Amino acid sequence: MRIIETKTYEDMSKQAANIIASVVTLKPDCMLGLATGSSPIGTYEELVKKYEAGELDFSEVTTVNLDEYKGLPKENKQSYYYFMHDNLFDKVNIKPENTHLPDGTNLDSEEEAARYEALVQSLGTVDLQLLGLGRNGHIGFNEPGDSFVEPTHCVDLKESTIEANKRFFESADDVPKQAYSMGIGTIMRAKKILVVVSGEDKAQALKDTICGPISPKVPGTILRLHPDVTIVADEAAMSLMK
Ligand code: F6R
Repeated sequence: MRIIETKTYEDMSKQAANIIASVVTLKPDCMLGLATGSSPIGTYEELVKKYEAGELDFSEVTTVNLDEYKGLPKENKQSYYYFMHDNLFDKVNIKPENTHLPDGTNLDSEEEAARYEALVQSLGTVDLQLLGLGRNGHIGFNEPGDSFVEPTHCVDLKESTIEANKRFFESADDVPKQAYSMGIGTIMRAKKILVVVSGEDKAQALKDTICGPISPKVPGTILRLHPDVTIVADEAAMSLMK
């Protein structure tokens, strides 16, 4: 596990975008696993800048997203479909048919989880998986629990996650209670994993992820068993590591 500390969120975003850009440059038809939330927004901004500067070409890139709220239609501004189009897909030359997310409108959880898992596997191996880290140590929406769930599945979101994500909604009541998420097995099959972590409210989760016992109680700890993980974290997120 490689840990890169940066001074600010902006520096973290630049470092992360450089790592993603290097993967796309070396393998133009790569498959990227993508995340949503506030952590990667700056990374996507930097990637868009590189695209606009003519430094990056997404025309052969395929993407698979980690997760999606169950029950939100694509046009809902809080859906991850909307987020990805707003922050990246509509701003670069990626082919829409090469971008994939779980379908939040399919209310049949078993069917959707199986469909998405099969789709991701059929596309090949993710070359680089981008992750954020939840305040409770979740990755994707793999919430703390008694065991690691391997494949894509439907998750009951923890109260702490609903609380953390209510900032994007009018109230906590509007946050969907369930989501589809790639499982730990799906994430761990990626060739490279890049985690972006920012802010003091992530400091404990980051410390637990790096130093705590490997346990499904802190899902991020499983990353220590992956051979190629880079964490890019700002000073505030690293504050408990001194
Ligand atoms: C998002 C995702 C989540 C977030 C995590 C951190 O696709 O899978 O695991 O990465 O909840 O969210 P932010 O970045 O908003 O703090």
